Amino acid sequence: MRTAWLSALTLTSLLFGCAQESAPPSDAGESAAESAAVAEADLEALLATADLKRGQTLFLQCRACHSLKAGEPNKVGPNLYGMFGRKAGLAPGFAYSPALTDADVIWTPEALDAWLLRPSEFLPGNRMVFIGVKKAADRANLIAYLQKATSDNSE
Ligand code: HEC
Repeated sequence: MRTAWLSALTLTSLLFGCAQESAPPSDAGESAAESAAVAEADLEALLATADLKRGQTLFLQCRACHSLKAGEPNKVGPNLYGMFGRKAGLAPGFAYSPALTDADVIWTPEALDAWLLRPSEFLPGNRMVFIGVKKAADRANLIAYLQKATSDNSE
């Protein structure tokens, strides 16, 4: 009982925290846009002006679970090298959940945008414990950074 209460409390404060972080009520248009994956053209525009440094900083949220370079070991999550253009659930040697292996998803920037917005809704039942990245511009910064970092072994 006590634990249930505590997690209800944590959830409430998380939700409350998010609400505080979002745009003021006068800016209803923007907050609506931020709660949905963005349209392809909008994503392209965001990617064209993406901030790779910011993307690298945002990746700190992912780094405990994901490596990026060729040949690096899988962690709690799969190594992401070569993921763009590949079907979900195919990193060598990683034991994915059926939510990923059975998914009919190719990792394009658009698919990744939807996944990173809310992983639990994009592929229900998956095992990635991550709430999501709320801001469209931040998802684009992260996607642009990943496009570079998962295809280039020079850094
Ligand atoms: C707590 C650990 C954890 C965190 C944090 C995390 N992930 Fe994951 N991620 C996973 C796991 C586990 C899977 C595999 C899920 C499954 O099999 O259901 C996964 C799967 C993925 C996949 C699919 C890969 C494929 O080969 O199909 C991508 C892309 C991904 N994560 C990106 C990210 C990004 C970007 C972040 C940071 C914003 C992030 N993840 C944060 C654990 C994590």
